[in-house]
Amino acid sequence: MRTVKIGLLGLGVVGSAVSRAISSDRGMADRSGVKLEVSKAAVRDVSKPRDASLPQSALTSNPQDVVSDPDIEIVIEVMGGENPAFELITSALESGKHVVTANKEVLAKRGGELLATAQQQGTQLLYEASVGGGIPVLDAIENDLAANQINSIRAIINGTTNYILTRMSSEGAAYADVLADAQRLGYAEADPTADVDGFDALYKIVILGQLAFGVSAPVDAVYREGIRKVDAKDFRYADELGFTIKLIGAAQRTADGLMLRVHPSLVPVGVPMASVSGALNMVEIEGDLVGALWLQGPGAGPEPTASAVLGDVLSVARSTADTAPATAGAAELELAEMGSHRCRYYIRMTAADRSGVLAQVAQVLGDADISIRSVIQMDTNESEGVADLVIMTHSALEANMQEAADRLSGLDVVVELDNLIRVESYDHAD
Ligand code: NAP
Ligand code: HSE
Repeated sequence: MRTVKIGLLGLGVVGSAVSRAISSDRGMADRSGVKLEVSKAAVRDVSKPRDASLPQSALTSNPQDVVSDPDIEIVIEVMGGENPAFELITSALESGKHVVTANKEVLAKRGGELLATAQQQGTQLLYEASVGGGIPVLDAIENDLAANQINSIRAIINGTTNYILTRMSSEGAAYADVLADAQRLGYAEADPTADVDGFDALYKIVILGQLAFGVSAPVDAVYREGIRKVDAKDFRYADELGFTIKLIGAAQRTADGLMLRVHPSLVPVGVPMASVSGALNMVEIEGDLVGALWLQGPGAGPEPTASAVLGDVLSVARSTADTAPATAGAAELELAEMGSHRCRYYIRMTAADRSGVLAQVAQVLGDADISIRSVIQMDTNESEGVADLVIMTHSALEANMQEAADRLSGLDVVVELDNLIRVESYDHAD
């Protein structure tokens, strides 16, 4: 298996998560056919304690050690900001290295120059993590939607502000407290004004505008308004009118050209964007062939961003490999038996409408280790002396449920076990 040496520029929230994910591997090498190894990481302060699964000897305070190391094939730039990131990425590309970056600021401001340098050098510059955190949005636009004329992109693309707006809306929480939580969770930029004043969303919409519409907009030419003026009262009044409030970045084809804008918007409660909560992001893309698509997922945070960074790294490593990658899904799994599935159940039965029936039903479920969450008696048929009984269970084992279902069907008081529907779980607490 080929080993690819990686150099990191930055070992903060994202860089440390990237390093930890490389070190823990989790079958990544088997799946991709490439073994990644971090050989150097540049930081500002080498003595700072960090959780990065890297020996101290790999750290350097001189980023040139990374970009000029002949053994390093791929440089990951996760230091942020325009400078010195621009010079360092340029220098790495000019040294024949491929570069993967999560830095939206340098791409929005200097992306055209950097991509031109990569093209001249025959190297690759990938930046999936710069927009939408862990959501593979750039690759979708560039490859999967390549046959479409994109007409509109509207997006919640800043996790920090969406986290703040969600908590202000649901808890009436104070702006400053929520911002402190977002910083603690690793969503916020080093300077949080980049988030709350809309700069981060602006950089991302400029990148999307460039990729989807081929328009390189100067960042100063784009309308930008942050969330500082949004008040608890605005949420209350918007709610009464059937709306919520989100910070939206938009890039839309209009009769006057490409409209790029970032500002808080009232969003009708029924549309997909209205239910995007916390640090989640959503990108709504309208293409002429595909229609509307909604890509939703974690838009910030260390591990989701590391997922996008490493996706790019593996894509570069595989495209330059002279050996074939391992087959997809190389780590084999046994097929699980349906009997081992766990979920909640909805049970509908037609049962005798008299005393003692519920006790018998509850006994059967209890014997099978199935706990009842609720019971409702719905329609009754007085002439036949029966009623519809609907039971919701807590999470239970499928094998137990099937056994209980057989026993329930056999009870004299149960006329018919009409339906048993599994409840799809979206909450690990179920
Ligand atoms: P961070 O925690 O502030 O980390 C920045 C790292 O870069 C630190 O290790 C810092 O060194 C190092 N650094 C900064 N300037 C340097 C310099 N001049 N020379 C050497 N090292 C330098 O930032 P982050 O949250 O990881 O974000 C990194 C990048 O990813 C940014 O472009 C950000 O916009 C982007 N991004 C972040 C997220 C997220 O959820 N956090 C998501 C998507 C994209 P020290 O550790 O010694 O200070
Ligand atoms: N600070 C950014 C956010 C990180 O909150 O979305 C992801 O780009």
